[in-house]
Amino acid sequence: MTEFIIRLETAVDREGLEELLLAAFPTSSELRLMRQLHEDGDVAFSLVAMEEAGVVGQALFSRLRMPAATLALAPVSVAANRRRRGIAAALIEAGLEQAKKDGWKAVVVVGDPSYYPRFGFNSEAVRGMSCQYAGPALMGLALAEDGFGGPRIEYAPAFSSLPDTD
Ligand SMILES: CC(C)(COP(=O)(O)OP(=O)(O)OC[C@H]1O[C@@H](n2cnc3c(N)ncnc32)[C@H](O)[C@@H]1OP(=O)(O)O)[C@@H](O)C(=O)NCCC(=O)NCCS
Repeated sequence: MTEFIIRLETAVDREGLEELLLAAFPTSSELRLMRQLHEDGDVAFSLVAMEEAGVVGQALFSRLRMPAATLALAPVSVAANRRRRGIAAALIEAGLEQAKKDGWKAVVVVGDPSYYPRFGFNSEAVRGMSCQYAGPALMGLALAEDGFGGPRIEYAPAFSSLPDTD
């Protein structure tokens, strides 16, 4: 099996990432989302999975508008021919470590309730908070004691261009 490494995204990765996102998702919404988040300065950090031939995966963490010190994990993608090898899991775990190291208090994700709880995400953590993505797919993970605070989860403006289920 080909080895991969996880590292922070840099400017040289952008072309490969654009191709990855276009191929991984059914529409160009996530590609536009990534571009807009960068343009708006809302990317907290983005991790890439690299193989010898180039980028094969990405997990992007953006700043929420609220609560403070909270990140959104989206998008997460892995090249179709590299899936089910733990690449997304490695990206997410490394991302959560990075978030803790950088002092972020919590992370939210909108995703498959059968996948994200293995990293500690759960819907209980965000219960009662209003959000444009409220529902069973919205999950949170506190990284600090006072992880979640406030009545509302508000994503960065770039997300308003996405359909609700992305
Ligand atoms: C969702 C996605 C990112 C997962 O990427 P991935 O690298 O395949 O994820 P992982 O390998 O960590 O885990 C996926 C599955 O493979 C399994 N798996 C992990 N390593 C494995 C291995 N070595 N052998 C067999 N299965 C393995 C995991 O248990 C998991 O299975 P399950 O969910 O059926 O229980 C990828 O499918 C993708 O890019 N999809 C399209 C974009 C998308 O929908 N993104 C999510 C919304 S933003």
